[in-house]
Amino acid sequence: MSPTRTARIVVLAVLASIFTIAATGARGSDVTPVYETRAPSGNGTGKVYMGREIANVMSHRRMSRLDRPGREREERTDLLVAALPVEEDDAVADIGAGSGYFSFRVAERVPNGVVYAVDIQQEMLDEIERRKRERGVDNIETLLGRVDDPGLGEQSADLIFIVDSYHEFSHPREMGEAMYKALRPGGHLIVVEDRAESKSRSSGKLHNMTEAQARKEITTLGFSWLRTESFLPQQHFLVFQKPTSP
Ligand SMILES: C[S@@+](CC[C@H](N)C(=O)[O-])C[C@H]1O[C@@H](n2cnc3c(N)ncnc32)[C@H](O)[C@@H]1O
Repeated sequence: MSPTRTARIVVLAVLASIFTIAATGARGSDVTPVYETRAPSGNGTGKVYMGREIANVMSHRRMSRLDRPGREREERTDLLVAALPVEEDDAVADIGAGSGYFSFRVAERVPNGVVYAVDIQQEMLDEIERRKRERGVDNIETLLGRVDDPGLGEQSADLIFIVDSYHEFSHPREMGEAMYKALRPGGHLIVVEDRAESKSRSSGKLHNMTEAQARKEITTLGFSWLRTESFLPQQHFLVFQKPTSP
């Protein structure tokens, strides 16, 4: 074989492997696809991560549902906010902040700190900005995230919390890796999701998660699972921690 023909074959082989890795989302020499696809179910995307079908994103047009008057009583959001492990000068990230229901409540708990309210829908952030002006709140910063990256600085957060949003992340692996980087060592990640184990949940088949699934997906990123609290009437409250040393 001529040297030119050998060189061409080598180049083609390299290009083919680069294409395979890019197409599957695999990392390094591991070519196992991170995501799979199947026919979408009712409120699903058809994109499957670690055996779970990812749900559709809740549109900003349904924002008023997040602020419905009965929410505190139904979900005991007051207990949820009180249970977040924060100090008054902490930097806290609310990922999938929506209309800011939790961002504003948590901002009161960190009067000398900041809440980063992250969402991928600009309309949600516009509403948070409007409420900030209306209420005179100055310790919330809105951040337009990408579907695969919340856009937080490295080790910029003491605590990250995600309420009713993780199951909608279209790129949970990439989001998880970015959140890991954004959290300071020893910082906590709180994931709150409707209990999929409960037969009575009305918010839709995929707008929830089992505890086992959430633990599997988050610990694969390198977080340690500390505990799952069951004080909320409808949701799991899962507490994870980024190790203090790598
Ligand atoms: C059901 S709402 C929950 C909002 C809020 N956490 C609450 O409980 O009131 C889910 C939110 O997650 C947002 N979201 C979905 N994927 C996201 C991502 N990759 N990064 C940031 N936000 C995301 C959606 O735009 C939506 O505003």
